[in-house]
Amino acid sequence: MSGNSIERVRVAVLPGDGIGREITESALRVMKEVAGEERIEFIEGRIGGSAYDHTGDPLPSETIELCKRSNAVLLGAVGGDRWDHLPGDRRPETGLLRLRKELGVFSNLRPAVIYSELREASPLKPHIIGEKLDIMIVRELTGGIYFGEKGRNGDTAYDKMSYTRYEVERIAKIAFEQAMNRGKKLTSVDKANVLQSSKLWRETVEDVARSYPEVEVIHLYVDNAAMQMVTNPSQFDVIVTSNMFGDIISDIASVVTGSIGMLPSASMGDGVSLYEPIHGSAPDIAGTNTANPMATIISGAMMMETSLDMAEEAHRIYRAIECVLKAGYRTSDISGSDFTLGTIEITDKIIQYL
Ligand code: IPM
Ligand code: MG
Repeated sequence: MSGNSIERVRVAVLPGDGIGREITESALRVMKEVAGEERIEFIEGRIGGSAYDHTGDPLPSETIELCKRSNAVLLGAVGGDRWDHLPGDRRPETGLLRLRKELGVFSNLRPAVIYSELREASPLKPHIIGEKLDIMIVRELTGGIYFGEKGRNGDTAYDKMSYTRYEVERIAKIAFEQAMNRGKKLTSVDKANVLQSSKLWRETVEDVARSYPEVEVIHLYVDNAAMQMVTNPSQFDVIVTSNMFGDIISDIASVVTGSIGMLPSASMGDGVSLYEPIHGSAPDIAGTNTANPMATIISGAMMMETSLDMAEEAHRIYRAIECVLKAGYRTSDISGSDFTLGTIEITDKIIQYL
């Protein structure tokens, strides 16, 4: 290529509802600062309750098109009591689920790490946290009970949970690959003592395991896994699990590491990837400048590293966040220090430390 044109990448930004706007704004400020204004084109789209309010649809077709012609998608959060009365297909959450399905992002990576500076923010006693906590939760994201047939007949309601061997195989492979690059230990979480779909899950994980003889595989029932997450979390390296169990286990893992406001996620498939914090839209604190933007900022960094070929820039963001925490700055969810800052001010600090 000649001339002075810089190759620009396009990122779809979907703030969504509640604190979604504040936290995505923070992430964009940090990403622009580290990449320069020119290299990323951010285009905003609507999703969730705010999309419903404007268009009658929580996932308008323009949003799907925008996402599909972008290099990656950054999402804030969706949902809020205001829309709780709506029928299932109009709910904000349905917009997000449909987007995940449209993009085919079946693999949801949720890294739960404890920053040494945040150990005191964990509700667990120090000796239970142990030396180190670094868990990669691999959650199946486009199947299972979230997407099964559902319905309601008066006082009867149902949600069908099913998995195919193909669906389990492809997520298991991702998890084994993760394990190979980490501590070579994989915990598969299911409910195979009760559920047929979990029996297939376990069988399939065992089959895939044969191609990864170096990886130690442990199967845990989900109730036991939830308990172990708070009694002995440091045993976990990579966890692979279904859509519903992954939703629950990752919330537990997040508070164990200090706060749900710190956990990012990356959702991938064969096309465009989606990056979002694992927390919700927290309508109770929306607009109060108190939300922790770090999960979204880290999600943005994961995007730069994985989808935008900007690994170095991403690492500058990770390091800046560590420095800010080390310097004692906190948001109110992880406070316990004298330096509790608002959403905007903690973002200023992160930018300062870049
Ligand atoms: C998450 C959220 C979503 C989920 C909701 C908002 C639909 O809880 O990403 O963990 O259940 O997947
Ligand atoms: Mg969740």
